Amino acid sequence: MAEAPEPIRNPEIKYTQIFINNEYVKSESGKTFKTLNPCTGEPICEVQEGDKADVDKAVAAAKAAFKRGSPWRRMDASNRGLLLLKLCDLIEKEATYLASLETLDCGKPYKAAYGEIGFSVNVLRYYAGWADKIEGKTIPVDGDFFCYTRHEPVGLCGQIIPWNYPIPMFVWKIAPALACGNVCIIKPAEQTPLTALYLGHLIKEAGFPPGVVNIVPGYGPTAGAAISSHKDINKVAFTGSTDIGQVVMEAAAKSNLKRCSLELGGKSPNVIFADADIELAVEEAHEAVMTNMGQCCVAGSRTYVQDTIYEEFVKKSAERAKRRKVGDPFDASTENGPQIDETQHNKILALIKSGQSEGANLMCGGVRKGDKGYFVEPTVFANVTDNMRIAKEEIFGPVQQIIKFHDMEEVIERANTTHYGLGAAIFTRDINKAMTFTNSVDAGTVWVNSYNNVFPQSPFGGFKMSGIGRELGEYGLQEYTEIKNVLIKIPQKNS
Ligand code: NAI
Ligand code: MG
Repeated sequence: MAEAPEPIRNPEIKYTQIFINNEYVKSESGKTFKTLNPCTGEPICEVQEGDKADVDKAVAAAKAAFKRGSPWRRMDASNRGLLLLKLCDLIEKEATYLASLETLDCGKPYKAAYGEIGFSVNVLRYYAGWADKIEGKTIPVDGDFFCYTRHEPVGLCGQIIPWNYPIPMFVWKIAPALACGNVCIIKPAEQTPLTALYLGHLIKEAGFPPGVVNIVPGYGPTAGAAISSHKDINKVAFTGSTDIGQVVMEAAAKSNLKRCSLELGGKSPNVIFADADIELAVEEAHEAVMTNMGQCCVAGSRTYVQDTIYEEFVKKSAERAKRRKVGDPFDASTENGPQIDETQHNKILALIKSGQSEGANLMCGGVRKGDKGYFVEPTVFANVTDNMRIAKEEIFGPVQQIIKFHDMEEVIERANTTHYGLGAAIFTRDINKAMTFTNSVDAGTVWVNSYNNVFPQSPFGGFKMSGIGRELGEYGLQEYTEIKNVLIKIPQKNS
């Protein structure tokens, strides 16, 4: 998409109700909850609060939409692709409004929000193209059989998403699910329900039959748990913290062994060798951990720098962090807006304190910015050691840990000494170093001389406790189909 046009600073809030069967409805309990503007901590509006009874209603709608012989089940696969393309056009048409609404609700810089809409549309278009290319195999089994496989939709997909990338996460979940012919019950995060609810209206306008996509805003332990433990939901896809990923998987196992894909936390190592382009590495390492206010699952939150360039790298990184512009997310020059909420804000400040008391050197930042909202000064720590909390725990804030290393064997070992395994990167001009590292690090994505580039066509996900399964690319489709093997006996005598 082109440059972001001027934002709408006070976007009208049009949809705040639960979206079931292509209609907006009130919660069964009559309860609502507030969504806040993280720049001020003030409420934006009340949103209908979904809970088990609303999830049950959404499940009933989804079941009817998925029934054998329903319009959705009978729809040609190519037409499913066309509906997804129609949705892309509608989202593009309203990109300015959607990006403005996103900025208001989650505080991310408007320019970034606008860019994420372009990326989300690319993901939808990519999966639209797959809709009529989801093919099985014919298999030469022994004996007189014709054997083939069908990749059939899993059915009812429960999808629980976080607040850090509300529109991309919504799209990463529904696009492959719908391309494969599934139906969805999706729960946006309680901090950021507004853009998801608006997308409901566009899904209806695109022409998806009622019940194919249902959107239930609400809290995790209530609406979220109702999804992960529902007996009639066939699959749950979750993005969020590793702790809750474990809760979701347990609920999935105990209720009905629903299929489970998880995209969880990380503590991703970003390794800078002395032969790297230092200016490039400083900038990329800075963005790797500061982008989206550090609220990124794949943040490069352990910056390992080779000893011979360590001091220079620390100095340059602190200078860069001091220059990072924190402020009004609607302002075009703003690089960081506020953190999402008070809980996250306090968690980040507590981890910064732990870094100081455990002996890391605070080079800049380390405090809240302003007296309103949830802003944090970009923070850089030097002389960080692997055993400190800031080197082990996911901070999810604008806090860079710069850690010294000496050689390849040592840094691989240290990079892998974590339960996480989402991303990793190496900066070097030596192809041998790059190959050794990329082959040895435990991570679902490894970048060489860049960070954070994610594409609709290539898989994203984690090793170890960073998750199960992959999203995006052809691999992402595997999470949304069941494989059926059909064996047809071939008679050897024909009359
Ligand atoms: P969370 O994991 O609690 O929330 C993510 C989603 O899960 C939300 O939609 C929430 O309502 C839902 N949820 C919460 N409890 C649930 C339950 N018992 N059953 C089903 N769904 C449930 O994350 P939270 O509390 O917002 O953030 C805590 C930490 O998690 C962050 O500091 C960060 O470290 C990590 N995180 C990681 C994300 C990622 O992209 N991997 C995204 C958001 C948070
Ligand atoms: Mg909000």
